[in-house]
Amino acid sequence: MNVLLFGSGGRESAFAWKIAQSKLLNELYIAPGNPGVKEYGKCVDLKWDNFSQVRDFCLIKSIDMVIVGPEDPLVYGLADYFSDTKSLSDIYFIGPKKQGAKLEGSKDFSKKFMQRHDIPTASYQTFGKKELTEAVEYLKNTLGPYVLKADGLAAGKGVVIHNDLNDAINEITEMLHGEKFGEASSRVVVEEFLDGIEFSVFVLTDGHGYFLLPEAKDYKRIQNGDKGLNTGGMGAVSPVPFLTESILNEVKQKIIEPTISGLSKDEIDYVGFVFFGLIHTKRGIKVIEYNCRMGDPETEVVLARINEDIMGVLKQAGEKEIITRSLKVKEETAIAVMSVSKGYPGKYADGILVRGIEEASKEAIIFQAGTRLEDNKILTNGGRVLCATALDKDPSIAREKAYKSLMFFNRF
Ligand code: AMP
Ligand code: GLY
Repeated sequence: MNVLLFGSGGRESAFAWKIAQSKLLNELYIAPGNPGVKEYGKCVDLKWDNFSQVRDFCLIKSIDMVIVGPEDPLVYGLADYFSDTKSLSDIYFIGPKKQGAKLEGSKDFSKKFMQRHDIPTASYQTFGKKELTEAVEYLKNTLGPYVLKADGLAAGKGVVIHNDLNDAINEITEMLHGEKFGEASSRVVVEEFLDGIEFSVFVLTDGHGYFLLPEAKDYKRIQNGDKGLNTGGMGAVSPVPFLTESILNEVKQKIIEPTISGLSKDEIDYVGFVFFGLIHTKRGIKVIEYNCRMGDPETEVVLARINEDIMGVLKQAGEKEIITRSLKVKEETAIAVMSVSKGYPGKYADGILVRGIEEASKEAIIFQAGTRLEDNKILTNGGRVLCATALDKDPSIAREKAYKSLMFFNRF
């Protein structure tokens, strides 16, 4: 099969790495990709939002399957374009259409979906631009901490939590009437604060059946020991040590199954990944959020543990022939650690020469994330630059290998 993969980060590097191992693969194209994925396929200068350019490329290269890494193309309707365009409609498209992508693209939509299908989540109320007075009143009658969520996509920054009531009131005023999040916060979801430990599960669904992928937990804070500012994700682990068989069964019965049957009841045609951001509270497991794509850096551990030909799995999703089951996994722990630019998640320099990848690759799988090629040199191109994933039966050895590999990189 000829495959076109959209994206350029660590997540897409992990996809490219796994797809390149498939017996079913003929050509893999990555748009735009990064220097690291050249090992697995061909990078192409193709912009997902230029739909006609994407169409021409798919026809010229006889693409059989499109896989979308990030959420934006899905929320803005790339899957709809494929299904509505006669010459493209036979291509397997991995990623939901606009309506399904709203599970991530609109917090209000996803909360209503969960309420409708009786899926455990925090209680909430949504307020629009004209309802600031009501929102303030609601906050005053609630106990903190106060969880405020911009309804739309806000590059992962749309959730703000305040302990102090006045801070929360100022924040919601800024969200509804200020410029901070633009259109994304023209509606704001105010949610009950949930206390517990977070983890994530992932499925690949065709809207009816699903494949359960290995679960993972990401660590978002910048410093070692889970301290400091929040980032896009500094590392991940799979399996998750505290996740027992009985917790996983609760997740399947109370969360995954009602979600998949909810999609079907609501007639949402969904072929793609669902990422369940979950929290283990004293009152059971609850959904914090849905994403309509895989996580980053979770993918860098999840795919590393899958012991099947990923293209075979994706093809069954494209054909809508999934019979629900768990994917086969390696009985090893995978640990991913990100190497980031100095200053991240604040300001950082760009275009710094990256050294040590070859040496580091002897200790761990190095997935490039924020890199670009210039004059045959690999330069930094973002905050999260490289991801090191190591596997071992012993979690502490996996962690040691991942951290050891990072020592080979220069400080960028
Ligand atoms: P989200 O973008 O929805 O994943 O939210 C970002 C982060 O905010 C989550 O990973 C949680 O750590 C936190 N968060 C979101 N919703 C809640 C909630 N209701 N209670 C406590 N923490 C939350
Ligand atoms: N690591 C969290 C995310 O991908 O949204």
